[in-house]
Amino acid sequence: MRKNNLKTGRPRGFWKNFWGLFDNYSFLIKKGFVLILFIEFVHLLDPLLLKIIVDKLTNFDNSDILWIVGAVVGLFVFRRFSSILNFVKDKLFFRIITSAEREFMVNAQSKMVLLSLAYHEREDTGNKIIKIDKGVQKIIQLFESIYWEVAPVVIKLVIVCGILFWTDFRLGFSFILFAPAFILLSVRVNQIIRPMRKKRYKRYEDAAGLMTQSIININTVKSFVREKWEVSQATKIRNEIKKLGLFEWGKILRSGLLRLLISDLGKSSIILIGVFLVSRGEMTTGTLIFIFMISNEAYNHLYRLSRFYDQTEEGVVAVERYLKLLKEVPEIKNKKNGLKPKSILGEIDFEGVDFAYQEAKNQALRSVSAKIVPGTINALVGPSGGGKTTFARMIYRHYDPQKGVVKIDGVNLQDLDLYHFRKFISIVPQEVEIFSTDIKSNISYANPDASFAEIKKAAKIANAEEFISKLSEGYKTKVGERGIKLSGGQRQRIGIARAILADPKILIFDEATSSLDSQSEKLIQESMDKVSKGRTVIIIAHRLSTIRKADKIIVLENGKIVEKGSHKELSAQKSGIYAKLLKLQKIGDIE
Ligand SMILES: Nc1ncnc2c1ncn2[C@@H]1O[C@H](COP(=O)(O)OP(=O)(O)OP(=O)(O)O)[C@@H](O)[C@H]1O
Ligand SMILES: [Mg+2]
Repeated sequence: MRKNNLKTGRPRGFWKNFWGLFDNYSFLIKKGFVLILFIEFVHLLDPLLLKIIVDKLTNFDNSDILWIVGAVVGLFVFRRFSSILNFVKDKLFFRIITSAEREFMVNAQSKMVLLSLAYHEREDTGNKIIKIDKGVQKIIQLFESIYWEVAPVVIKLVIVCGILFWTDFRLGFSFILFAPAFILLSVRVNQIIRPMRKKRYKRYEDAAGLMTQSIININTVKSFVREKWEVSQATKIRNEIKKLGLFEWGKILRSGLLRLLISDLGKSSIILIGVFLVSRGEMTTGTLIFIFMISNEAYNHLYRLSRFYDQTEEGVVAVERYLKLLKEVPEIKNKKNGLKPKSILGEIDFEGVDFAYQEAKNQALRSVSAKIVPGTINALVGPSGGGKTTFARMIYRHYDPQKGVVKIDGVNLQDLDLYHFRKFISIVPQEVEIFSTDIKSNISYANPDASFAEIKKAAKIANAEEFISKLSEGYKTKVGERGIKLSGGQRQRIGIARAILADPKILIFDEATSSLDSQSEKLIQESMDKVSKGRTVIIIAHRLSTIRKADKIIVLENGKIVEKGSHKELSAQKSGIYAKLLKLQKIGDIE
């Protein structure tokens, strides 16, 4: 469990982590803070010059005219100087903030694509997006407040406190008497609302998740007339967020009233002490005005500083979530200096592989041992949920086995460079993922350098050329999000063309022809035979007609290999699962 700071409830090391994000900009930030310090001193000259003018006016003498004119000119000059300094400071700020924002977003994107499949299966899409979006937004907001509010105010408070003590210790004491009350109140109110705030953030993610889910599954929502129900679920969460938000802000605003009361008391006490000192001749009227001006401003800023505390607490949860995401490490570790063979033969070995998905009750693969000879066609069959897709994913090293090893050409996958060996493999997954671009980019995704002629060739082999040429804009046709404008069979054919274009040594078809009619399937079968030459092919299929030509058939049931052999061998084992499936399909119970 994470250790929290007992007083603030903020995770330990929060600020260290926060500033760590800005490591690349530390020089610029330091430069900015020096500028702020300078600006605050220049700001003080304003009331100081006013004090000189007032003091000279109260005991006016003709010789003072030069002083007064000088002070007025000084006032003008310093104000100009201060606006130029502010300009430089703000320019610096925008340089930092725009670069940092770009960096945070790019980092998040790179994290998202580098994290293993297991992470993405665990977390909802909406949650991930809101984590990144809200996180970055809050980091920027916090930085903005520190740069524009906190740093200037803290500097101002120290200077004002020093001046008050220097002028008269009673003024100084009255100032620092009210400050702790302020701080205590701010801390207390945030302690009260912290649990609600945490809950509210969790609910934001839930709401985003829910919205994403109903959008992704819109077809089902509409088909089963669940629109109202979806809206009512969202309303429920949003109501809760509203209730929590109202409660939190109610508390903050009420405490804000109290904080203002304290600040008003503080301001009045300064005037009282000041008037008392002036009446006894211990202080000039000009000094009273000077003191009143600077302490008034300091009090107003103190209030803003306490509001910053509220804001920080509000941002901490969002920032923490983003930081946690950045700290996620891929479950699949890529070995340093992993092997990068120039080419592979395509031999695959499973040696006693056990695998269970996270939080799953049953094992998806149990003591699976199999040897796949290079250049052969292999089929994986068996009942749904038997572990076929999992078997294929192990070859990609999307997951590591809990026991046993998977090898390519006799080398443990874990000793190979992850990003290198994956390039030798292509898969047409059960659900082909289509990007919201045109057909051409979708096919060439695995090989962006491919020429148009190569793309067309791959499409032809995949039996996709015909339907593509009938589309309004041919290869340039936009296919919509997740290929919504294509039929299931068309999506599969794009997937096949993509896999072929990658020119792999190992080619995996996971139910790649399940959505095709018998005629198209036959055509693809012929193409598959063509592309199989010189490659190791694994075909996962329910339709046994697809795999007749396989050199080897592996039957997986409940994660276990129950039969292995050629079509001839397995069909001869009359009591075997394969023979049974074959019989059922012949009768026509299964297509
Ligand atoms: N991402 C996952 N997280 C948890 N469990 C999973 C996950 N994917 C699959 N499973 C489980 O692992 C087992 C094997 O699933 P797998 O997808 O490998 O089966 P399959 O043989 O490909 O089935 P089908 O023929 O229906 O595609 C199933 O019990 C399934 O519920
Ligand atoms: Mg499957």
